Amino acid sequence: MSATQQEISRRRTFAIVSHPDAGKTTLTEKLLLYGGALHLAGSVTARKKERATVSDWMELERKRGISVSSTVLNFDYGGYHVNLLDTPGHNDFSEDTYRVLTAVDSVIMVIDGGKGIENQTRKLFEVCRRRKTPVFTFVNKMDRPALDTLALLDEIEGVLSIGAYPMNLPLGSGGDFKGILDRQTGLAHFYERTPGGTFRAPVATHGGLSDPAVKEILSPTLYAALCEEMEMVEHAGVSFCPNDVLAGRTTPVFFGSAANNFGVQLLLDGFLGYSPPPRPRVNAGGGVNANIGVDVRTGDADGAGDNGNISTGNLIDPNSETFSGFVFKIQANMDPRHRDRMAFVRIVSGKFTRGMTATLARTGKPLRLANSSNVFGRERTTVDEAYAGDVIGVMGTDVFRIGDTLSDAAGIVYDEIPSFPPECFAYIHNPSPANYKRFREGLTQLVQEGLVKLYDIPAGHQKISLLGAVGPLQFDLVQYRLESEYNAASRLEQTGWTIVKRIKTAGGEPAAETSLHIPMGAKLAIDKDGHQVLLFPSGWHMSFFTEHNKGVSLADD
Ligand code: G4P
Repeated sequence: MSATQQEISRRRTFAIVSHPDAGKTTLTEKLLLYGGALHLAGSVTARKKERATVSDWMELERKRGISVSSTVLNFDYGGYHVNLLDTPGHNDFSEDTYRVLTAVDSVIMVIDGGKGIENQTRKLFEVCRRRKTPVFTFVNKMDRPALDTLALLDEIEGVLSIGAYPMNLPLGSGGDFKGILDRQTGLAHFYERTPGGTFRAPVATHGGLSDPAVKEILSPTLYAALCEEMEMVEHAGVSFCPNDVLAGRTTPVFFGSAANNFGVQLLLDGFLGYSPPPRPRVNAGGGVNANIGVDVRTGDADGAGDNGNISTGNLIDPNSETFSGFVFKIQANMDPRHRDRMAFVRIVSGKFTRGMTATLARTGKPLRLANSSNVFGRERTTVDEAYAGDVIGVMGTDVFRIGDTLSDAAGIVYDEIPSFPPECFAYIHNPSPANYKRFREGLTQLVQEGLVKLYDIPAGHQKISLLGAVGPLQFDLVQYRLESEYNAASRLEQTGWTIVKRIKTAGGEPAAETSLHIPMGAKLAIDKDGHQVLLFPSGWHMSFFTEHNKGVSLADD
């Protein structure tokens, strides 16, 4: 194994997803402790009172108490190099979350033990399932009254259509929470309340259910219930098969309390033991060089058996010498003192070296990657070398687009980023003509970041700007950022459209507006690539249009 391959094999790149308030931020902080980022985690805890975390870098996030932009945390632990990509935890920011999920190899899903599967968890999980991403589950807040363990496992299996294998079982919950029983070692870990969850040596372990110390700590009722539970999961539960985990068919379930740093190390160790190293990705470009690609019909580059998310086409082996990666996120003005733009690149294969030249597949132009950063919350350090699985921040002007492929070999194009059709639309006006330049510059950059989509609605000699987003909170974010980063005020005007479709004519020519039979309430607009689109208030309006315009078809924009 070459030095590069060794580095790649120890990479573990994942995201933590949860319904808001289940404990994602708290768990992230505790994981940092294990990574030796003590000083950072400490300051995170201290600042937590104001709801600021190391992964929140924008004012708005602090104000709203939600994490709206994603960041990358990394640390070394147990010989692994861990890359943790933070995801926004709010419903409205799902598109950004989805993009982050394309850049990870596995996911930790946090569930509030008292609430079970919540709406946002279900949606996020659906994305993982579609991508066959391995999912590890952490049932948090066991120090509070929790749902029955078997019912919870049942819920995970039923709602998410996946096998749930408890790696440990909780010894009670809430006031009766006594610890967990690790099924791998058969040892019990007794719970001690550690408010603030400061980092300390692992708690003393005891024997299994037959150990008198374990029996003594539990009430007779709890003990009897636990014995029954244990028997049920041993006999009726799914069996543990690492390949099923890698293929996203089984989720290993861990119980604990993030706030008390209890069960977190078992989660981390279990996760690292069974999660995949960087996996091969599909090359949608087709022209793959034989010695960097892996043909899925004959090869399995990650050695993981069923590598899941790919069924046809060429795969790029992460261990190849060829550097390649794709942009999954663009963020402007991360540092308010410098007007800058950073493209976050997930490296898919090979090794990155600062100063290297790579080709931007979309333009075919070579780019020197001289200004590369490792972004840790607000902190930035220069990255000289990085490997498949890592995420680097590349400073750039406006050359990058979300989804762009960078590579030092010809013929590689990744098509990893899904696009989600906007469902909310609002006009955006510039109330101060003197600020037009700043307003336009800001809007253009935020659109390039993928924050919102922008449409022009022709109105006589003028054009009115329309924003489209998956959720309406994005509009607030646009306004806030225009104001704070570009010093440009704006005014929003809500509209009732909920669907946007691109018009496709038989000959590919733009349709003359007069030739179209557009129902009342629908509107013709132009997207940022110059395509004609139609905005509809409802599916009914769209069906009406299709029925009355036979030579025209509609496609997702
Ligand atoms: P999120 O990122 O998923 O939105 O959740 P976050 O970690 O911010 O946690 C949400 C709330 O749940 C926080 O309380 C946090 O302290 C609490 N919490 C997290 N893990 C546990 C746990 O294991 N047990 C218990 N009992 N609570 C937990 P908060 O009141 O909103 O904030 P704070 O004042 O406690 O910081």
